[in-house]
Order: sequence, then structure tokens, then C-alpha cells
Amino acid sequence: MKALVYTGPGTVEVLDRLKPTIQAATDAVVRILHASICGTDLHILKNDVPDAQPGLVLGHEGVGVVDSVGSAVQRMQVGDRVLISCMTSCGACRYCERGITAHCLTGGWRLGKNIDGTQAEYVRVPHATLSLHPLPSSIDPRAAVALSDAFPTGLECGVLSSNVQPGGSVVIVGAGPVGMAALLTARLYTPSLIVMVDLDETRLEMARKFGAHATVNSSGPDTQQRLMDLTQGEGFDSVIEAVGIPVTFAMCQQLVAIGGRIANVGVHGTSVDLHLETLWDRNISIHMSLVNATSTPRLLRLVESGMLDIGSMVTHHFPFTEATTAYDTFKAASSHQALKVAIDFV
Ligand SMILES: NC(=O)c1ccc[n+]([C@@H]2O[C@H](COP(=O)([O-])OP(=O)(O)OC[C@H]3O[C@@H](n4cnc5c(N)ncnc54)[C@H](O)[C@@H]3O)[C@@H](O)[C@H]2O)c1
Ligand SMILES: [Zn+2]
Ligand SMILES: [Zn+2]
Repeated sequence: MKALVYTGPGTVEVLDRLKPTIQAATDAVVRILHASICGTDLHILKNDVPDAQPGLVLGHEGVGVVDSVGSAVQRMQVGDRVLISCMTSCGACRYCERGITAHCLTGGWRLGKNIDGTQAEYVRVPHATLSLHPLPSSIDPRAAVALSDAFPTGLECGVLSSNVQPGGSVVIVGAGPVGMAALLTARLYTPSLIVMVDLDETRLEMARKFGAHATVNSSGPDTQQRLMDLTQGEGFDSVIEAVGIPVTFAMCQQLVAIGGRIANVGVHGTSVDLHLETLWDRNISIHMSLVNATSTPRLLRLVESGMLDIGSMVTHHFPFTEATTAYDTFKAASSHQALKVAIDFV
């Protein structure tokens, strides 16, 4: 089969690889229809993810058709169209039992990190019963790749962790795919104010189209003041950090209202200051999490019922033969007005 392989710092190549086979009774092999590129894949290219070594097939997001199943796989049959979750989970270990499936003792984020991933004609998915989801025929498979990671992350690590409430105020810092997914799923909870912050005017314009009530470009002056003015100086009840750098987490600490919640979604690579001297008496909480992707069945139902429109998240598609161009486009997302970039195998 053809596969997109990480061949060393900064490089991906389309190479011939052996088609994967079932190795455990709980595995399934999936023929990929569409796979999407994630910011995390770019981190692997930069050598930021030590587990991911050259020779690895990239990708933890995708939609496909079940090609073969191990004898212990439930719910899934050969020929079923499925969404692949970014997290694999056994459902039985002490973390799965508590719903923290991201830390499954034999699963978690493995695809495209410890084992070959989805950016290939076929992928082996461990713990297939819980790591694959039947994809209803009414959902466009080209758009559904955004449900592998971006939407569960935006909803679970952003919206639910920051306790978005009807009539509440929300600020989302970072208008990438994850911030946008937080925006779209926050709307389901009917807050009265959602403000999106980014440096990129194109993304802020997209955010307004996706339903943000206001946007603030933080490259301009007086960002803090402009944001506080939108809440009559009170700050925001729900603050979602979806970038992953010290300056944006600092901004979140300044924007949280008394009694509010900060949800950190961003992946941080350097230490970040926590200003307890200004926060200790504000009755706030700070939540941080790796996505469990346990909300995926709910998200699928929301899309199926028309309550959640995921159609605008994947902005670019490339045929598999142009997979390296797909990476180049995603690397320069802003200049291509790209959010999520997908690779098509059909
Ligand atoms: N916690 C989890 O389980 C989980 C899962 C998936 C992704 N993530 C993380 O979530 C974060 C967002 O993911 P994404 O795919 O949307 O990333 P992205 O890089 O596409 O988007 C980040 C956005 O932040 C903006 N930005 C950068 N610096 C800024 C600044 N100083 N002020 C305001 N905006 C700024 C960028 O312009 C961009 O639009 C990343 O850190 C990613 O690694 C976390
Ligand atoms: Zn991802
Ligand atoms: Zn487990």
C-alpha cells in the first residue's frame, strides 16, 4: 500500500509499505477514505514528540471502511463506514473505567505516534470496538474527519471544562481548528457572548461566520482593555486557551471573571507562570486535560440531527498523490486561508 511516512526532521514522503494485518483479536484494519492533518503531525516533523520516530506512518484522524476485524471486535463488521477516534481505549483498565480514556493503560494516543497511523491506504486500529465509531450515511465523510480530534477536543477540553452556561460569557483564545470547534460547540450551550481572539484576521473573519459575537485581534494595542470592555469590566465566565504558549495562558488569567473557569486546551512546551498573587481570592478554577474523545457518539448525533454544522472545518482536500503539497499547505495555513487540510484516498 501507499503510506505517508515521517522520514526524518521536517520531511514526509509517500512510500510503499506492507498492508497492515490483524495482530490482536481486538484489532480492526480500516481502508482509509479521508485522513486529515493535525497540528500535532507538524510537531512530530519538528521532532517535538520523542515517541514518534522516523519510519512512522503519520496521522490519527480519518474516516474509512472496515476491511477486516479480529474475533473480539464488537459492533463493527467488514464493509462498515467508520470514524477513527484519535484516542484508542480498552474500556476496562483503571483509567478507562473512570472515563479518562486518554490515559488508557494499553491505548490513548497511539495512532501516528507509537504505531502506524491513518495517512495511508490502510491502518490497523487497536481496541477497535471503542476506537471506531459507525459513521451514519447522512454525514459527509469528507467533513467527518474533523470529528476524530478537533471537535471532541473543542467540546471536552474547552467547552465542558470551562463550564459554558446559558447566558454566560465565553472567550476563546486561538482560532485554529480546535478553537473553532470550541466556538461551534459552545453555541450549543447558548452563552450570550462568545468572543474569539487570534492574531490572524482571516481566521477571525471565519470565526464571525461561525457565530462569534465579537472578535479581537491581539496583535493590536490594548487587547486586554478591549476584551474587558466587552464584559463591562467583569471578565469572562468561561475562558478557553487554545494556543499553547505562555503569553496566551497569561492573557487567560487576566480575562477570567470572579467565579469563572479557565480551560487550558493548548499543548505547552515551555513553563508557564501562574499568578496566584492575583487569582487566589477570585473563586475561579483552572482545568487542563488531554482529550478523552468520549463525546464522539454525542457529536455524531448532533451532526446527524442538524444541530451541529461541521461542514466548514475542512477547507482543503488533496488527492493522495499530492500529500506532500497537503502538508505544505497546512504548514502555511494562514496564507492559504486553511483550517483543516484533508488527504483523499478515493
Ligand atoms: N488538550 C488536547 O487534548 C489537545 C488535542 C488537540 C490539540 N491540542 C492543542 O490545541 C491547540 C490548538 O490546536 P489547533 O489545531 O487549533 O492549532 P493551530 O496552530 O491551528 O491554531 C492556533 C491558533 O492560535 C493563534 N495564535 C498563535 N499565537 C497567538 C497569540 N499570541 N495570540 C492569539 N492567538 C494566537 C494562531 O494564529 C492560530 O490560529 C494546540 O496547542 C494543540 O496542540 C490539544
Ligand atoms: Zn489531531
Ligand atoms: Zn483502558
